[in-house]
Amino acid sequence: MQIGFSLLLASLLLAFVDAVPIRRPTGMVTLPLKRLQQRTDLHPTILLQQHINRSHRRYARMSGRKEPTSEQLEANIVKRFSRVGIQSKQRRHHKQNGNKDANGSVSSGSNAGGNSTTGGGEGFSEIDLTAQTNGGLTPAGKPTASNSLGLDIEANDVGYIATIQAGTPPQDFRILMDSGSADFWIGAEGCQSVLGGCGNHTFLGAKGSSSFVDSGKQFQITYGSGAVAGNIITDNVNIAGLALDKHVFGVATQETQDFAADTVSFDGLIGLAQSPISNQGVLTPVEALAKNKLIDDAITSYKISRLSDGLNDGEITFGGLDTTKFDAKTLVTFDNVNTQGFWEGDVSFSVGGQDLGLKGRTAILDTGTTLIIAPAADAAAVHAKIAGAQSDGQGGFTIPCTTTAVVSMNFGGTNFDINPTDLLFAPVDPNNLTGDCISGISSGNIGGANEWLVGDVFLKNAYFSTDVTKNQISLAKLV
Ligand SMILES: *[C@@H]1O[C@H](CO)[C@@H](O)[C@H](O)[C@H]1NC(C)=O
Ligand SMILES: *[C@@H]1O[C@H](CO)[C@@H](O)[C@H](O)[C@H]1NC(C)=O
Ligand SMILES: *[C@@H]1O[C@H](CO)[C@@H](O)[C@H](O)[C@H]1NC(C)=O
Ligand SMILES: *[C@@H]1O[C@H](CO)[C@@H](O)[C@H](O)[C@H]1NC(C)=O
Ligand SMILES: *[C@@H]1O[C@H](CO)[C@@H](O)[C@H](O)[C@H]1NC(C)=O
Repeated sequence: MQIGFSLLLASLLLAFVDAVPIRRPTGMVTLPLKRLQQRTDLHPTILLQQHINRSHRRYARMSGRKEPTSEQLEANIVKRFSRVGIQSKQRRHHKQNGNKDANGSVSSGSNAGGNSTTGGGEGFSEIDLTAQTNGGLTPAGKPTASNSLGLDIEANDVGYIATIQAGTPPQDFRILMDSGSADFWIGAEGCQSVLGGCGNHTFLGAKGSSSFVDSGKQFQITYGSGAVAGNIITDNVNIAGLALDKHVFGVATQETQDFAADTVSFDGLIGLAQSPISNQGVLTPVEALAKNKLIDDAITSYKISRLSDGLNDGEITFGGLDTTKFDAKTLVTFDNVNTQGFWEGDVSFSVGGQDLGLKGRTAILDTGTTLIIAPAADAAAVHAKIAGAQSDGQGGFTIPCTTTAVVSMNFGGTNFDINPTDLLFAPVDPNNLTGDCISGISSGNIGGANEWLVGDVFLKNAYFSTDVTKNQISLAKLV
């Protein structure tokens, strides 16, 4: 478990402000990000639609397809509403589990009642509901390997954030860690948004850092909900104690509210897919660490934790794997089948041990996406095997919050079970946590017949590692 360095993850909060239109250079890949829901009074179907909207855009861009039109997305949400029915928008009895500290973080102590849910059946977690409502960051404990950083949990497992240092003297920055994109940026000193500045974040620039050098070159990235534009710069970066001097990356001089708002709990983002899809056209931090021989291989490994477990043991490791986090006997390594620079593997599916017979499927593994988005026929096939599942007729599904159904994804010949509680995206009625829940597996209206976009619903259930040098992906069962 010799490791490279680790990155910090930050997670995003969603603001309902449309992206400032930023002209996209032709031919560049643009990546949507998962956005987080921070409002307390949204109907769960709207929450789902937000995530699905974002996933659709992300998926479309990943696969080079046309994005759905606003009208298509709009039509879906209207229909979804009428099918599921509108329940009370606000919980009448809001049970406060978390204590917010001055940073707006839910303190880890608030999870004292949480423990590992293995079999499901108990309904939607009260801890998750509170976090879904309040947002905030739950800090990770100390990393257990070298070259590693703790991954703080955003809200109810919506995003994963680590803290890195940049500049001279070094300052801390909270950074969202995203396996589904390949650019690194931090908000710039003097950053502007439509509302003026870019919130109460920590910024990087020549005032605060004597080693900051602006190259004069510009970059822009359009995400699923939001955009940033700015300058390509060099400055010293330190990730998990690994010093990357004069690293080339970006500072965002313009951000949409999706990034600029005070409620967004990160100062920047690190993409850890492969550099061919970097808009900035530079090496990712892990590639630069390997090139500078600070780590042996451009490996990034993730242990993403589940808030309701109360363990707060999330970790990102650079240059290797943290063998204390997984069962070595279960480690499988398989080829990356994506030719653009994303991480994608061959996969098959079963529910309750029964193979679904879906052949030739592939899955893009993306820490920056919350849900699992499947081709429509595949999503239907999965839910057909889950007792009590119902289609909303528009690609979404409800399942009993008490489901014990085990959906498994097979990679490299090994079945990885999804904890049934991870299938619960949100309760349809926030006052009944043992009623129906919206499923975390949803169908995309776009994309290839065989391609899935697989986010944190699955990734919380495995140790996940990517290797740029070998162009391979590894998964293992967690201990
Ligand atoms: C989803 O996208 C459509 C079209 O852009 C938009 O009208 C709708 O408000 C979005 N839904 C949510 C919940 O953001
Ligand atoms: C930034 O503003 C948000 C929203 O008001 C607040 O919750 C958070 O504590 C602030 N963060 C800092 C570092 O001041
Ligand atoms: C945030 O929390 C940390 C740890 O509790 C504390 O050291 C820091 O001062 C807080 N920052 C703000 C802005 O409240
Ligand atoms: C989980 O928590 C509940 C309530 O705190 C407790 O009764 C139960 O024994 C715990 N289970 C495990 C496996 O720790
Ligand atoms: C919650 O939903 C379940 C399943 O539909 C139902 O049996 C139960 O009566 C509901 N409880 C409340 C308090 O509404």
